[in-house]
Formats: sequence, C-alpha cells, structure tokens
Amino acid sequence: MLAFDKVTFGYGSNDNILDQLSFKIRPGEFISIVGRSGSGKSTIFRLVTGLDEPSTGTITLDGNLNGQRLGKVGYMPQQDLLLPWRTVLENACLPLEIAGMKKKSAHEQIMPLLQEFGLAGTENNYPEELSGGMKQRVAFLRAVLSGNPLLLLDEPFSALDAITKLAMQEWLIERWEKRTATVLFITHDVEEALFLSDRIFMLRNKPVTSFEEIEVPLGRPRSRNDLHNPEILQLKEQLLCALREEVMQ
Ligand SMILES: Nc1ncnc2c1ncn2[C@@H]1O[C@H](COP(=O)(O)OP(=O)(O)O)[C@@H](O)[C@H]1O
Ligand SMILES: [Mg+2]
Repeated sequence: MLAFDKVTFGYGSNDNILDQLSFKIRPGEFISIVGRSGSGKSTIFRLVTGLDEPSTGTITLDGNLNGQRLGKVGYMPQQDLLLPWRTVLENACLPLEIAGMKKKSAHEQIMPLLQEFGLAGTENNYPEELSGGMKQRVAFLRAVLSGNPLLLLDEPFSALDAITKLAMQEWLIERWEKRTATVLFITHDVEEALFLSDRIFMLRNKPVTSFEEIEVPLGRPRSRNDLHNPEILQLKEQLLCALREEVMQ
C-alpha cells in the first residue's frame, strides 16, 4: 500500500529529520507511530501526503512511484484544519460534497454521525465556538469520510477526555474492520497504540534511519480486557521505558 525506499528529508538547510528511511505497509494494516515530540512523526505524514517531497529516495503509494499523492489519502493533521467560515455540519460534509454528493444527501448522512460523535446540537456552530475536543472530533470525522483507502491520523484523540477517547477508538476500529482501510496513526498513548494496531513503529534515533518495530500479539476483534494480558503489559512497560529513555537523552 505504501513504501518508503531510502527516503531522506530535512526542512530547508536544517539537519535531516529522516535519513535513508525505508519501510513498507501492507493494504489493510493498522500501524501506530510513537516517538517523542520533535522526532519526525508529523514530517513522515507530510511526505506521505505529498505536502513535502523527499530530497532523495522514493515513496510509492498504491503502486505509483513518487508524485501524484496529493488528494489520494485521508489526512487529519495535528492541528485540525477546520474551515472557520463553515459550520460544523458544513465542515463534516466537505469530503462528501467534493465527491459530488448533493448537499441535502450529505447532510442526511452526516447528521446521525454527529449524534454518534456527541456533537448533536453543534451542527450550526462555527469551529471557533467549539472546545478543542469537539473540533478534533469534527476533523476526525471529516478525514474518515474522505473515503480514501489510506488514512493518516496525527494524534487524532489527544484533546479528548478519557471516556470520549475510548468511544472514538472503538468507533474507528469498528469502521476499519468493516471497510479494511489502511491506517497510519500517530499517538503518544502507548495503551492506545497497543489496543488499535497490528504493528507499532517507534522512532528512536535522530535523524530517523529506521523504526523499532513491535508486532502486537493480539487477534481481532479485541476487547479492553486483552490489555491486561501479561504479554501486553510487558510490551507496554517496554514501550514506556524506551520512550522515557528517549526523553531523558
Ligand atoms: N515547517 C518546518 N520547518 C522547519 N522545521 C520544522 C518544520 N516542521 C517541523 N520541523 C522540525 O522538524 C522536527 C520534526 O518535527 P515533527 O515531524 O513535527 O515532529 P513530531 O511530529 O514527531 O513531534 C522538529 O525538530 C521540528 O522542529
Ligand atoms: Mg507531530
């Protein structure tokens, strides 16, 4: 689905963030990316979307080498980019409208989802009138509805309270299992990464030359109870330790 082959990238004349990074993602996989702040996670997403291009190396998306990636992925950036002049409903409907759906049908499809997302009653509000967590849910909904086979989610649930976060995780997994989209998911939350993913990529070195890769030893469907499984608890401890070491360095 996605392959980086020896990708090197730095911003302007600054030091490289990625150095000869290679990895592959199979169709339908759910991958989480963890690593301390500033390690290059969001940069990887900007390269996948085509907002930035590698200085050397190649990126292949769905069999197409380089270029032509803009508009081919569903992307939720770390800063939600809701259009301030559109209401919640109009923001959420955007991907459906772009796909050519009539406004009325788009609204009919979105309204129940807003309800499900705890956003009922906000449909006619503008983004500036919403809390951070609410804006995040609208941006998340919009990215998922883009219908692209590759979904990039950059810390999509970071501003949510614990209960809402669990509900959103479950919604995402249910949808992912139904539609077999491929998901790349950046998070700070190790438990979230373990619950959601097939594999976890950890960024440890700077510049990033490779990932430390963790295969999550859980089948599907999963339940929260699986997180208490001794093997998972041990993995969690291991991940936290590695991330802590990174921060101390
Ligand atoms: N537009 C930019 N111009 C210059 N430097 C940037 C830009 N965006 C990010 N950086 C730098 O690149 C590094 C990696 O950033 P980023 O990918 O956002 O990290 P992460 O998402 O892991 O927190 C950081 O040192 C950051 O300061
Ligand atoms: Mg980031």
